[in-house]
Amino acid sequence: MARVKSFPRTILDAFKGRSFLSTLDFNRPELSELLDLAMQHKHGRIDPGTPLTGKAVGLVFFDPSLRTRTSMTIAIQQLGGVPVPLHVGSETWTLEFREGAVMVGESEEHIREAAPVLSSYLDAIGVRCFSRLQDYEQDKAETVLSAFERYSSVPVINLESSTQHPLQGLGDVLTIREKFGTLDQRDVVLAWVHHPRPLSMSVPNSFSLAATQYGMNLTIACPPEYGLDPEVFKQVEDSAQANGGSVRISHNLEEACKGAEVIYARSWGSLDFYGRLEQEVELRQQYRDWIVDRQLMSLASRGYLMHCLPVRRNVEVTDEVLDGPRSLVIQQSANRLHLQKTLLSLILR
Ligand code: CP
Repeated sequence: MARVKSFPRTILDAFKGRSFLSTLDFNRPELSELLDLAMQHKHGRIDPGTPLTGKAVGLVFFDPSLRTRTSMTIAIQQLGGVPVPLHVGSETWTLEFREGAVMVGESEEHIREAAPVLSSYLDAIGVRCFSRLQDYEQDKAETVLSAFERYSSVPVINLESSTQHPLQGLGDVLTIREKFGTLDQRDVVLAWVHHPRPLSMSVPNSFSLAATQYGMNLTIACPPEYGLDPEVFKQVEDSAQANGGSVRISHNLEEACKGAEVIYARSWGSLDFYGRLEQEVELRQQYRDWIVDRQLMSLASRGYLMHCLPVRRNVEVTDEVLDGPRSLVIQQSANRLHLQKTLLSLILR
């Protein structure tokens, strides 16, 4: 029978009572221990118990979700807690974030009241707030997530913000570790793929950071106009150097994928064309052949497909690859539950 885990002090000190906004807030030993525990939880070698008994966790959504909302709700319930999902605007009042705002517009309530009020009921608050893809500096400022962090008196958990999706990044690394056993020096490709419209950079940012924090060799394959934010790329480079991995950029998808162990398909928007939707969409039309298909997978003979989902079939990845034996996309989503249970049990113990 699995025994209830008493956590080592080092990992408790690292996570207990802390917000979880980015993997960059934690060091490699802490993140490694988190993955060890998540793997042990998943395989029933330890029982996390019900450390959330008597506790409630808010799940505040400004944007849609299938996986994050469901897996967080189940994680909280399985740990004995009460999940409180709230969709802002339809299930709550619309919120204002501008300091000093004269609130004559649509917003009924300011974050300066909303966050302290929620903190008085809840033991942690998860927040999902996507980028608006209009003004990059505004998205990069993480106005919504930062305001929740500033005005809440309980830990705040990033459920995907404008620039980061750390639960996804860690869940993905957990999946790679489960498949290969080790993470150092794994050859992974983050492959930009076509999509009808520009998407946020949160997943590519978080996957690139997490992969290099765990010592992998990362190739970012993208058209020339689709590089990561240079500041984020510098963080990825620093992280690779500190953890014994590497990062490089390739503008040739086939060259990048030769011999890869993982091809992580994902689309994102061009920083050069940020907020210029029509021109951006015109630009990406040139890259409709950036798709993960059987021929691309054959270049990575030992390679697996990953994608955070949702995925546009036969635009980003073909049916036969998604449905084939080298696809990890369902396992990736399933692992979010185990990762999140571990994280919640550490933060709220
Ligand atoms: N990958 C992911 O976060 O999925 P959802 O947007 O459905 O939550």
